[in-house]
Amino acid sequence: METVLSGIRPTGNLHLGNYFGAVQAFVKLQHAYNCFFFIADWHSLTTHPKPDNIRNSVKIILAEYLACGIDPEKATIYVQSDVREVAELYLYLNMNAYLGELERVTSFKDKVRSQPDNINAGLLTYPSLMAADIIIHKAHKVPVGKDQEQNMEMARRFARRFNMIYGVEYFTEPQSFHLTDKAMKVPGLDGSGKMGKSEGNAIYLIDDEKTIKKKVMKAVTDSGPTEPNSEKPEAIANLFTLLEIVSSKDTYDYFNEKYNQCEIRYGDLKKQLAEDINAFCSPIRKRIIEIASDEDYMKKVAGLGAAKARESAAKTLREVREIIGFRS
Ligand code: AMP
Ligand code: TRP
Repeated sequence: METVLSGIRPTGNLHLGNYFGAVQAFVKLQHAYNCFFFIADWHSLTTHPKPDNIRNSVKIILAEYLACGIDPEKATIYVQSDVREVAELYLYLNMNAYLGELERVTSFKDKVRSQPDNINAGLLTYPSLMAADIIIHKAHKVPVGKDQEQNMEMARRFARRFNMIYGVEYFTEPQSFHLTDKAMKVPGLDGSGKMGKSEGNAIYLIDDEKTIKKKVMKAVTDSGPTEPNSEKPEAIANLFTLLEIVSSKDTYDYFNEKYNQCEIRYGDLKKQLAEDINAFCSPIRKRIIEIASDEDYMKKVAGLGAAKARESAAKTLREVREIIGFRS
């Protein structure tokens, strides 16, 4: 059976981008594959070296995962820092990771611009830690959004390089996985780019009805088309993408038709969009609150996941040590 793995950094609540970019695919795959889903708390130290309350952030995100429908009986859900073997594999991968290639990663270059006072080695070697996460369980498929393509390419490269250097066919090259024919990019409401926590434009699964409505009503629009069937500018296309994601096809077609006939009223569209986003989030929100209040259950899930993940990771590390020539 093929293995599927994905992870998210606990640096904030889950938003629609996380859900439709990564979590949804995972929820669908968990029944048919050997699945690992983890919380990348070590990775969050690359940007937040002294986290406020990392245990609490991990707990929140765990509750949110579970509320989305990840089933701890089917999938192995664990916290990265519970599996120390990942750190050892990261060390080995770093010995064969080169400065030039790490410096060329776009997300690293972005961080150099956005946080010039904290360009640490962890940030530089982010792709080798991510590769270790993935190949330690020999994952075949990794559900991630478009923004992770380059990290995925690095993971394949590090897996291939390990095999080459030590003359083995040991690690599998992991592939990105998308539910549709292309990677999903959930747009923000601010007219350009993607939805994200650092972009400050996200709708969170935990947001209540009022908050959702406020955020959607504030979305950037324009004065409307003047020619029938004209191409949509980015801000408008983004709203339609969100409709496509959360609303019914009829709703989408209705507003699309209105747009094409130059009769669109953005206020109506936004009201409908807010309603549909709320209808989607509301049951998840209720479950998040329920699950988060059950500390014992959460502890049990994390404990069970850690044990299963450690077993799989320890087996890989025994073999890796042997391949390199250490005592296994
Ligand atoms: P992040 O919140 O940036 O740590 O991302 C966690 C996961 O969600 C990764 O697999 C991302 O690719 C995915 N993701 C985050 N934002 C979006 C978005 N706007 N569209 C699609 N996928 C996303
Ligand atoms: N880099 C991912 C992100 O920012 C999180 C992540 C860390 C991850 N390790 C992973 C995702 C392994 C998939 C597989 O979203």
